[in-house]
Amino acid sequence: MSAVPHKPMLATVLGQRQERPPVWIMRQAGRYLPEYRETRTQAKNFLELCYTPDLAVEVTLQPLRRFDLDASILFSDILVIPDALGQSVRFETGEGPLLEPLDPSGVDRLDRSRALEHLAPVLETVRRLRAALPPEKTLIGFCGAPWTVATYMLGGRGSSDQWVARKFALQHPQAFDKLMDILVDTSIDYLEAQFKAGADVVQIFESWALNLDDTSFVRNVMDPNRRIVEGLRARIPNAPIIGFPRGAAGNILRYAEATKVNAVGIDYATPLDFVCKTLPNTLTVQGNLDPLRLVVGGEAMETQARKIIEAFSDRPHVFNLGHGIVPETPIAHVERLIEIIKRG
Ligand code: CP3
Repeated sequence: MSAVPHKPMLATVLGQRQERPPVWIMRQAGRYLPEYRETRTQAKNFLELCYTPDLAVEVTLQPLRRFDLDASILFSDILVIPDALGQSVRFETGEGPLLEPLDPSGVDRLDRSRALEHLAPVLETVRRLRAALPPEKTLIGFCGAPWTVATYMLGGRGSSDQWVARKFALQHPQAFDKLMDILVDTSIDYLEAQFKAGADVVQIFESWALNLDDTSFVRNVMDPNRRIVEGLRARIPNAPIIGFPRGAAGNILRYAEATKVNAVGIDYATPLDFVCKTLPNTLTVQGNLDPLRLVVGGEAMETQARKIIEAFSDRPHVFNLGHGIVPETPIAHVERLIEIIKRG
């Protein structure tokens, strides 16, 4: 009988504190790496990069060749879901994502029946990654949380206040509930398929858990995330799940209790002592260095990185940034950060 390989990142998500925190970096494959920029030129656009397993596997593995990371995150995007539902999605260089914004009748036209078929190349990428990765590395699958994905589907692009989507949710409650149902159901199918293809853990990216009053936080964020976790665990019992409700602030504990995720991603604006006081120390936390500190490096980065490790030293902790790494990040700073995490 072969022993189950020890995966420090997976073990930590499951609640086992490690001597030193395992580490991965949100958006670790991307434009700050010259080899990513090179591979990116081989696809005619960003979505094609996501849907071409040869290229997607290559860019997923690139950061692991350079850095001593404990996990690999599938290379794809949260907006493959609207694309799979038949909405027009484009990525313009320098502009970010552009979608044909949905009105209530557009919600009715979304078609879930072929979504997984459309996403088959992404699942093939997961299978190939499973085979390519050393056994001690954790493979992370992901999706966007329904509300975050809906902000792009309804607004047509990123925005700092999610005005269009927040207004739509209040003005068209039935269409909004229907959209959330479609996204919850599709996300469950998609994450289940990622686990079956070989993912060890999945992360639900709720990047826009901010700007919501109490009632809307429950309706837009907590309930859909909870339904995904419940639906997924009904099919994959004990599925290890990380929730990242960016901006949830005072709502983090409620979010963790309601959703029953195994680990909560903490954004960089959340005070460390608040996390320590609020979240039970049996709950795994992930985070939370400000990506700007990684850009600047030196003292600005090192002191805060040590503070984070110290603050979370008595609980299961996965070291990460408090949001995605940015293109201007110097590679040498990433190397130094990982050295600090691994060696002190
Ligand atoms: O390495 C990894 O982390 C895996 C790949 C990954 C991407 N996007 C690749 C990507 C993951 C996990 C995401 C998640 C994602 N995508 C989120 C949630 C996380 C977060 O940052 O809040 C969101 C909101 C999106 C939507 C999205 N995709 C935006 C707003 C943009 C444009 C902004 C940007 O960073 O360029 C994208 C494009 C995108 N997704 C790129 C990459 C590497 C850059 C596109 C390019 O190469 O031209």
